[in-house]
Amino acid sequence: MKVIIINGPNLNLLGKREPSIYGSHTFEEYFEELKQKYEHIHLEYFQSNIEGELINKIHEVGFDYDAIILNAGAYTHTSIAIADAIAAVKTPVYEVHISNVYAREEFRHKSHLSRVCKGILVGLGLQGYDLALHYVIDTK
Ligand code: DQA
Repeated sequence: MKVIIINGPNLNLLGKREPSIYGSHTFEEYFEELKQKYEHIHLEYFQSNIEGELINKIHEVGFDYDAIILNAGAYTHTSIAIADAIAAVKTPVYEVHISNVYAREEFRHKSHLSRVCKGILVGLGLQGYDLALHYVIDTK
């Protein structure tokens, strides 16, 4: 089984960025824990601050991988192009947000991606990625 976690803009700053909202772990530390926990699957991580690079990665893996776990950061609220990329590929995409976007500013309440994602995990901290992975493996 092949699964990729894709993180969008500013998520490279996890651990340093607004720790009261996003926590104090870096994603790299957390990803190492996930790799150990799910050592029986092929698990990959990609991060970019650039919309087109996120789209290219979705195209690259989206006809081959079993699942994409995507936190598109602020592009969630703005990017029709990422929504189109998700709709264009075969691999199911799970939308993750570390924070509860519905308890935050109004502009974060709109997701262009949810409509084309298979499932959504919101506000469960970094554990949202783990829970998405658990679901993917459990339902395979
Ligand atoms: C986020 C929520 C977005 O609104 C924000 O722009 C992010 C992170 C989250 O994981 O909670 O960058 O996707």
